[in-house]
Amino acid sequence: MTKRNVRDLTEQEARGKRALVRADFNIPLDDNREITDDTRIRAALPTIELLHKLGARIVLLSHLGRPKGKPDLRYSLLPVANRLAELTGRKVCFVESTDTDEALQATRALEDGEMLLLENTRFLGGEETNDPRLARALAELGDFFVNDAFGAAHRAHASTAGVAEHLRPAVAGLLMQTELDYLGGALDEPERPFVAILGGSKISGKIDVIEKLLPKVDALLIGGAMACTFYRAMGLETGKSLVEEDRVAMAKDLLARAGTRITLPHDATVARSIEDAKSAHDVPREGIPRDEAMFDIGPRSAASFARAIASARTVIWNGPMGVSETPPFDAGTLAVALAMAHATKGGATTIVGGGDSAAACAKAGLDKRMSHVSTGGGASLEFLEGKPLPGVEALDAAR
Ligand code: 3PG
Repeated sequence: MTKRNVRDLTEQEARGKRALVRADFNIPLDDNREITDDTRIRAALPTIELLHKLGARIVLLSHLGRPKGKPDLRYSLLPVANRLAELTGRKVCFVESTDTDEALQATRALEDGEMLLLENTRFLGGEETNDPRLARALAELGDFFVNDAFGAAHRAHASTAGVAEHLRPAVAGLLMQTELDYLGGALDEPERPFVAILGGSKISGKIDVIEKLLPKVDALLIGGAMACTFYRAMGLETGKSLVEEDRVAMAKDLLARAGTRITLPHDATVARSIEDAKSAHDVPREGIPRDEAMFDIGPRSAASFARAIASARTVIWNGPMGVSETPPFDAGTLAVALAMAHATKGGATTIVGGGDSAAACAKAGLDKRMSHVSTGGGASLEFLEGKPLPGVEALDAAR
């Protein structure tokens, strides 16, 4: 169902009101608590700027990491507040608590257009259990709700789903809307040919998305170690490659149903081990040596995947083709990313699911050359599986 978003808010609904904004500031930090990738902070800026223009008083909530329901300074959002101030050029007050009187008073002291960030919602015991009392306490912190945390929308937590029951309007932020538009558009009305590329190590984590996409796509290209479970289903030797033995029957069934719509790599880059990159060489899929493992799709497959991408009008990609963080086993993943970047230039809609494939695009400097790179790994996968996202379900329907 289409949801109301922040663009639909009237001046009257927003001006002088406290906008409680759930963002996903779950960003990577190094050992010195320096932010190593601020993509998710930047992605929240359009919503913040729009609320600022509308004269709302902005109260930001987010989780960071998995601190297990109690304060743990390694996961404090203070570095995010500082980066937000740098990026917006505005003052960002940071409150070291979330559901306290101090926090409540701070939200009430805000002036129009000002913003504050509260401490990590996962420092609170009731966040991940969606405790109704916590949801009500969080709702006190705002006059209306904006959920821009697409990356956490698959979590039914107090700050994503619970709080939305107590505040009206409850609308999607601009990032949330963009994510839903791209991913939903690909599922509902893709311009054809529609090609999906799935990778990653395990078929078990992707089975629901394969089932969901199979009837919709013109071609489903499968790479990553999960191709080996399909190879086993085809009766091929897979050597020391990762194979999910308990999924072989499922892979066989999928291949039987998919006909020519599933394409598996024709060749593989294999090696004795990931560490032994010098032993890497390419073999046809029928020739995987017994004492070696597949760590990437081979160059013939990379070229044929690139051709399939070049002929598509809609491309969606989730999961690397090989061990993308360890050269030379990153070649297949890079070839897919590059082919998608070219396809974007040629007018295709190209969508990268979050997580490892998004990281690979960013590392290769190709992220800006995609139509859309999702900020949600787990969330985009669940969306593509057709599961309702609790953080979205809880929002107002579009009028
Ligand atoms: C993510 O990084 O995918 C989201 O922020 C959700 O984080 P989580 O997997 O810890 O719930």
